[in-house]
Amino acid sequence: MKDPLLIQEKRLSRLKECLSKRQMDLRLFLEDIKNYHNISAIIRTADATGVLYVYYTSEGRLPINDSITCGAHKWVMLERVQDKSTFLKEMKRLGYKIVVTALSSESVDFRAIDYTDKVLIVMGNELEGVTQEVMDQADVIAKIPMHGMVQSLNVSVATALILYEAERQRKEKGLYSVKQIPKALEEQLLIKWGFHDVLKKKARGRLRHLV
Ligand SMILES: C[S@@+](CC[C@H](N)C(=O)[O-])C[C@H]1O[C@@H](n2cnc3c(N)ncnc32)[C@H](O)[C@@H]1O
Repeated sequence: MKDPLLIQEKRLSRLKECLSKRQMDLRLFLEDIKNYHNISAIIRTADATGVLYVYYTSEGRLPINDSITCGAHKWVMLERVQDKSTFLKEMKRLGYKIVVTALSSESVDFRAIDYTDKVLIVMGNELEGVTQEVMDQADVIAKIPMHGMVQSLNVSVATALILYEAERQRKEKGLYSVKQIPKALEEQLLIKWGFHDVLKKKARGRLRHLV
């Protein structure tokens, strides 16, 4: 039987490069976002901006559309949160700043917030926004200025704007040039991610050992 841990050399370099840019301390929490278009687009932006951890609450399975994520859901860690309050308290204990996105009288412009240290960005449900339970845990409330008739943006658009502001700030500080991921996790993900590829490509030739 062939060794299952096989991958093309070029692909392995690509996975390693991607992991070397993952921002371990830029994390996203989706509170009860329901629309699969939105969730899928958000996951794709998370992957693009180097987010590894995407937490979420959801009644059932997280609805994801493969053709919208373009496979990005395979390259981020999607973790379901059972108890929002406990989760947020734990993130705070770990030193994360909780940036809740909402339009409120206490909101500050999202570009005035520093995203270069440990930060958890919270996005709310399409209709209700972020719940009071979560708002109560916010260290800062971020708003994206609105100058038109409509009061809010689509949640996937809002996520993209905020994540790209974080990306801009982090890139300026050189944080995409410094590998952050711990060795053990990198190896674990290379095996997991590589396995996705192997499953797809194992019938083809030119394969090489993953680790
Ligand atoms: C469509 S909005 C929800 C609108 C909801 N009626 C409310 O009052 O929050 C969905 C989510 O997108 C984000 N969002 C949309 N527009 C935003 C803005 N201008 N500023 C900050 N966050 C925004 C927030 O996370 C919000 O919970």
